[in-house]
Amino acid sequence: MSPDTNVRDVRVRSGPPPALRVRRTTTAILAGMAVIDLRSDTVTHPSPEMRRAMAEAELGDDVLGDDPTVNALEERAADLLGKEAALFVSSGTQGNLVAQLAHLQRGMETIAGTETHIIVDEAGGHAALVRTTVRPIRENADGTLPLDILAGAFREDDVHDPITGMVALENTHAMTMAQPLTVAYTRAVSDLAHGHDVPLHVDGARFFNAVVALGVSPRELAAPADSVTFCLSKGLACPIGSMLVGSRDFIFRARRARKQVGGGMRQVGVLAAAGVIALRDGPAGMIERLAEDHEHTRRLAIAIAAMDGIVSPGGLAQPQPGPLDPGRATTNFVLFRVERDRNEFLEALAKRGVWMVGYPHNQIRAVPHYGVSAADIETTIAAVAGALADTLRRPAQDLDEMPTTTEPSGPTSLEPEAARHRVAIAH
Ligand SMILES: Cc1ncc(COP(=O)(O)O)c(C=O)c1O
Repeated sequence: MSPDTNVRDVRVRSGPPPALRVRRTTTAILAGMAVIDLRSDTVTHPSPEMRRAMAEAELGDDVLGDDPTVNALEERAADLLGKEAALFVSSGTQGNLVAQLAHLQRGMETIAGTETHIIVDEAGGHAALVRTTVRPIRENADGTLPLDILAGAFREDDVHDPITGMVALENTHAMTMAQPLTVAYTRAVSDLAHGHDVPLHVDGARFFNAVVALGVSPRELAAPADSVTFCLSKGLACPIGSMLVGSRDFIFRARRARKQVGGGMRQVGVLAAAGVIALRDGPAGMIERLAEDHEHTRRLAIAIAAMDGIVSPGGLAQPQPGPLDPGRATTNFVLFRVERDRNEFLEALAKRGVWMVGYPHNQIRAVPHYGVSAADIETTIAAVAGALADTLRRPAQDLDEMPTTTEPSGPTSLEPEAARHRVAIAH
């Protein structure tokens, strides 16, 4: 970890997040104790160096194209992924949205995995704003779409059919316990798509986790895709922002689409400055560091998999029942079920100072990230054992219905009553 580490920033807060401020049931929080927050890699805070760079960033009006810090970030992102151009956007969702607006016309259809973020977690933006439909394909447990089914999913020229306008992959694929998709697979999909004159978009919210886990270069992994979105505000620890990369023409259309959805920002170099640091090579940046998160994730998965009461997450995360298979934790997610009431377990864990979160299929998710140390992982392992001991054994519910969201939910992510409602209805 760099000397700029902000472990305290992440773990010690002035108070609980809004979800828990409403009902202060958590002893750890009442006691003002440090919290190890593993709900998501989105909870990271910027490093001290990022904060300094943000304060000192050279600025201009980005809508006019003259914010030098944004321009530097966009040039770096494009170069890193080997594309002609890049666009700084507010979020992964906005990146995917403007990519769709740039690739698609009203009434077209996108082929994508059934449990991908673009389909289930972007508030129906494809329908409401892009005005397109989706053709979902059930993913394999490694996040791939079966190629034979994909090959048959492109529409023929029939007046009854929508026109296939885009194929979307998710890399890493969140619901599979964040498995990375390989260069060879991405190439096979793009060959199929291009054979039908259809572009391939990769929702790479955690693209660099895939790059690091696969040991490939960002250019190699991005090469088969026409466009890639990746998030700065997840494992790369920036406070905000995502990047969209592609050809110059595509990015021009995406820039107009971003303006259309109100995403044109002015002196936004204050935010882009953190991204410039995140994308630096080597230990000065945040990409190489992701290997540490993966190592922590593996350690956590191996330790809890050995505990009585921790079982397979089911679903795409681990289709086979039985014990949790720690071999599934290949990047930065551990997904599992407990032979407990999930909410009781999460509350018991929170009382011991560790936050995890409910996930679809009655799963629990833990995501090691910047600011979480090896010692925190050992503390977490002890807290999981303690929370299991604190709660009554029950059969792990196998709620295998389709999730309506892949976003975290549960008592530590939302106001508790609302969270329970959501869990009961949706998962
Ligand atoms: C796979 C995937 N794509 C896209 C997004 C959207 O990112 P954002 O929350 O920045 O809109 C997420 C967020 O968790 C994600 O997991």
